Amino acid sequence: TEHVHDIDPSKLTLHLKSELTPVPAPETLTFGTVHTDHMLVLNYSPELGWSAPSIEPYGPMQVDPMASCIQYATNIFEGMKAYMGADGRPRLFRPDLNMARMKRSADRLALPPFDEQALLKLIKTLVMVEKRWIPTAPGCSLYIRPTMFGTRCGFGVTPSTSATLLVILSPSGPYFPGPVRPISLYAESRVRRAWPGGTGGHKLALNYAPTLRPTHDASLQGYNQILWLFGDDDHLGEVGQMNAFVVLRREDGSLDVITPPLDGTILPGVTRQSVLDLTRAHMLNAPIPGLPAELTLHVQERHMPIAELVEHSEAGRLAEVFGVGTAAVLVPINRIGYGEEGKEIAEETGASGFGPVAKAVREEIMAIQEARRTHVWSVPC
Ligand code: COI
Repeated sequence: TEHVHDIDPSKLTLHLKSELTPVPAPETLTFGTVHTDHMLVLNYSPELGWSAPSIEPYGPMQVDPMASCIQYATNIFEGMKAYMGADGRPRLFRPDLNMARMKRSADRLALPPFDEQALLKLIKTLVMVEKRWIPTAPGCSLYIRPTMFGTRCGFGVTPSTSATLLVILSPSGPYFPGPVRPISLYAESRVRRAWPGGTGGHKLALNYAPTLRPTHDASLQGYNQILWLFGDDDHLGEVGQMNAFVVLRREDGSLDVITPPLDGTILPGVTRQSVLDLTRAHMLNAPIPGLPAELTLHVQERHMPIAELVEHSEAGRLAEVFGVGTAAVLVPINRIGYGEEGKEIAEETGASGFGPVAKAVREEIMAIQEARRTHVWSVPC
């Protein structure tokens, strides 16, 4: 394998469309429905390694019916966003974290490895080519979807020795349209999203398919998303496709900020990491604007059995519950249904269900993403 090529950005070829699509008006944007004019394509073969990268018109592609991705779900993806700064420069948010995670996902499915910095360079080039597609309206961004799938043909259950890597782009508005509104959760304890030793900690397409039926069923019961639980104690996992956070009020006025630990069942989210970093920095040297500097936050990555959540709720200590992810950034939760009798776990976060920690953290992350605040996490293309 010493002679196969790694990704080489200097070999990039551009085949641009002669007639470009008009970009949609920002008010019409929802999440992930529109694609831009071009995509980045790379192919891996065992003999040659990664092909010369190509930016070419977006369009359907041929996949062999016996391909590994179709037969055995060797598909991985990432979610990132590009933001247009007031200075006209596109920026990415902590892209190194996505590249590292994508490499781990590829390895988990025995898909070919790749040079993360080389791929990032190509993603930046693609974003520059498609710059006019980056919406500037508040809450809007260009969603970036790096995707890799196994293309080896054959029914043998063996690693896919060939693969295709695509990067496609989608101008996106808010994940949940309209003003920030809290959502409701159904706490699911019969169907599991992830388990120790499983794949829940990797961004594999196969983690998402089995959530569709239970989530649809929950929606028929009036819930927006599922609160995934695991273990004999039904401890908290994720919220739909997002990482979960719980805020508890202590008697002395300080707050516990709690999220489940990365035990293999939890996706290591970029937004999750950012919430942890910001709330920990609040206690060191960088108070989060919008929160009193003297407010003590006890930041913890730990398991929380659902019974404990119920207890906190009943004792009036449950201040906030929210989900975080790249697509939605941060979504407050104001209702959780649990158990046979559909017990409602309610918070006391005011009529909006959008508490002070959620508000301040969401605003701070978006200010960094949109480069309204200068920060090393915001990386120019
Ligand atoms: C996210 O970005 O929060 C997600 O994981 C959602 C994506 C699968 C659409």
